[in-house]
Amino acid sequence: MKIVFATNNAHKLNEVAQVVGEKFELVTLRECGITEDIPENEPTLEGNALAKARYVYSRTGLNCFADDTGLEVDALGGEPGVRSARYATDGHDDEANKRLLLERMQGVENRAAQFRTAVALIMDGEEYLFEGIVRGDIATEEHGEGGFGYDPLFFPEGGAKTFAEMSAEAKNQISHRGRAVRKLAEFLQNISQ
Ligand code: IMP
Repeated sequence: MKIVFATNNAHKLNEVAQVVGEKFELVTLRECGITEDIPENEPTLEGNALAKARYVYSRTGLNCFADDTGLEVDALGGEPGVRSARYATDGHDDEANKRLLLERMQGVENRAAQFRTAVALIMDGEEYLFEGIVRGDIATEEHGEGGFGYDPLFFPEGGAKTFAEMSAEAKNQISHRGRAVRKLAEFLQNISQ
């Protein structure tokens, strides 16, 4: 089954392709001719995921899904949350975002946080939402070279390795996106039987 995944992020595409398996052929935005940035101005992750999926559906008429992820830090009242990509600047500057997070968390004892992903699916015009959460802790400095975004600063589930120190497979097993996309994949498998 062909389905558009509303992303051009190669890391995300690999992660998601591994989870959904070979039964689904993922088509990227570029591959369906969408080269412009899709606005992500909604106040919630769910709102942004739905807005992206609706945009793609209205442009292509193809079944599609979109995700939006936020890092929600307990001691910061859930920030950066929906603003995770634009935490430090209006651009998408991972290095500046990580620096700002470390700065805000300096001397903070409660380092508990979670990554949360909302996935919006539009299938034959019907809308569906899926959620995935992984709890963990914010590091005091960066560890590891893998992954992307805030990965070097996040120890998932009380472990000793950050996401950036784990293989893509190991990250996928427990990650917010892995969990949300497995729910999506189960749903797609059930309706395509
Ligand atoms: P978006 O879902 O791509 O909009 O991501 C929002 C922000 O969270 C961006 O700054 C990403 O770099 C970051 N982010 C999303 N997913 C992950 C992840 O799996 N690990 C680390 N950072 C992530």
